[in-house]
Amino acid sequence: MRIIIVLIVLSVCIWACAAPENKTETISGIEIYKTRCVSCHGTDGKMGMNGAKELPSSPLDASQRIEVVTYGRKIMPAFKEMLSKEEIKAVVDFTFTLK
Ligand code: HEC
Repeated sequence: MRIIIVLIVLSVCIWACAAPENKTETISGIEIYKTRCVSCHGTDGKMGMNGAKELPSSPLDASQRIEVVTYGRKIMPAFKEMLSKEEIKAVVDFTFTLK
């Protein structure tokens, strides 16, 4: 009987410890920015390629930026097919760190 309890406790322990491991693909705003946005906005957000707005001085708040990134505007492509909602939020959060 004892051994069974020990086994159950052990397996719960292993499961509990292993579970977060499966979720290690953390969403990194800076990585998404580097691969998706730098070509027009530049590493500092000020490149302005193809008429891209300067991100550090953008007056848009987070929800407005999410709109622009999700649906695109003029030359800027819509990212709704390419990025998940969480990824869009992460990259928008990153744009607020640009100075
Ligand atoms: C193909 C070039 C291109 C790419 C790639 C691109 N953008 Fe843009 N972005 C633009 C252009 C052009 C504008 C200005 C649109 C306008 O004039 O209304 C803009 C505008 C914006 C704005 C609004 C700024 C403001 O103050 O109005 C945000 C925020 C933004 N981009 C974020 C991003 C993010 C985040 C990414 C990456 C996921 C990205 N952009 C990728 C070209 C691009």
